[in-house]
Amino acid sequence: MTFENPSPTLDRPPRGEFLRFLRAAAVFFRGFLENPAMVASVVPSSQATIDAMLAKVDWARCKLFVEYGPGVGTFTTRILDCLPPDGRLLAIDTNPRFVAFLRETITDPRLEVVLGSARDVERIVHEIGESHADYIISGLPFSSLPEDVAQEIVAASYAVLRDGGAFMTYQFRPTARALTAAQFERIDTGLALFNIPLCVLAWGWKEAPAAAREAA
Ligand SMILES: C[S@@+](CC[C@H](N)C(=O)[O-])C[C@H]1O[C@@H](n2cnc3c(N)ncnc32)[C@H](O)[C@@H]1O
Repeated sequence: MTFENPSPTLDRPPRGEFLRFLRAAAVFFRGFLENPAMVASVVPSSQATIDAMLAKVDWARCKLFVEYGPGVGTFTTRILDCLPPDGRLLAIDTNPRFVAFLRETITDPRLEVVLGSARDVERIVHEIGESHADYIISGLPFSSLPEDVAQEIVAASYAVLRDGGAFMTYQFRPTARALTAAQFERIDTGLALFNIPLCVLAWGWKEAPAAAREAA
């Protein structure tokens, strides 16, 4: 389900949109040059990847959406277009350049951009006054992260999700999918062919405990 956005996410005419795109590409490329291991890509994700990842989201049930590694906002603006008017989007990135760019260019009050690590998602979610996330999408380069950090991020994501929520990853390598399969009760997988390079997609679903499901 897609909600009409009462106020435009970005205060920009079409020309402004194009200029933002050019600036975003430059900021992203500079971020990559400064920290290639953490950014792990020279170009942002394709529209096909974004559409495929978000197709499984039940927007009517989404009050808090969390995004790890938003970069220059390739997914962020699309998520805001779909999010209900009373929903919130928490975007967490370790790169101060990307955080500053997002804060400057996206003025939507539903967006909270935090400079920090996905590892601290539980604390950050509580600090913004929420108890659980409905969905988490991760653009993190899992294969570049130390293995224990990667595992901690997936475990913290599981802990902070509500029952029925999903942890979604898109990555050039299958690392995130394997970590998700090890932590979550159910997993869907896919492949984004129209992405350079190809992208492995995964959705890990947190199921309600068996006892609760039987009682329902
Ligand atoms: C491949 S880029 C993804 C950018 C964007 N989401 C996209 O799809 O085009 C990876 C992003 O993860 C961020 N990042 C890396 N490690 C992180 C961590 N531990 N917590 C939060 N963000 C992190 C980087 O700064 C970068 O913005």
